[in-house]
Amino acid sequence: NKVLVLHGPNLNLLGTRQPEIYGQETLADIDDTLRARAHSGGWEIVCRQSNHEGELIDAIQAARLDGTAAIIINPAAYTHTSVAILDALNAFEGRVIEVHLSNVHQREAFRHHSYVSLRADGVIAGLGSQGYRAALTAVMEA
Ligand code: DQA
Repeated sequence: NKVLVLHGPNLNLLGTRQPEIYGQETLADIDDTLRARAHSGGWEIVCRQSNHEGELIDAIQAARLDGTAAIIINPAAYTHTSVAILDALNAFEGRVIEVHLSNVHQREAFRHHSYVSLRADGVIAGLGSQGYRAALTAVMEA
């Protein structure tokens, strides 16, 4: 059993990027906790971050072929713009869970629409880094 965790643009800056919105934890902190939980549940986990839309798409395409059961994705700003990421996820047959650290519905109107939500089996927003852990729990319980 294998899960891919994908983080989109600017999430490499977590910890210092608008901490009042995105929290104090770094991406490495978040991924370390997810890795420990996945391994203790007997799951393989790959965590990746990219600032490049095409690299995120390549990772989704690779997951389609390597037996990955689920993708947990925070597409960051590409959530609101990327038909290409939606299309890649539509070609993936496993489970997809969309995560946002902030409550996007409480923010600017342009953050209220998500292309990825058209494909996601579940969406978690506004719980900070806890949202990733909730998503992983859901994946491992399925
Ligand atoms: C985000 C919300 C997006 O609107 C924003 O562009 C991000 C992060 C979140 O995790 O809250 O970069 O996906």
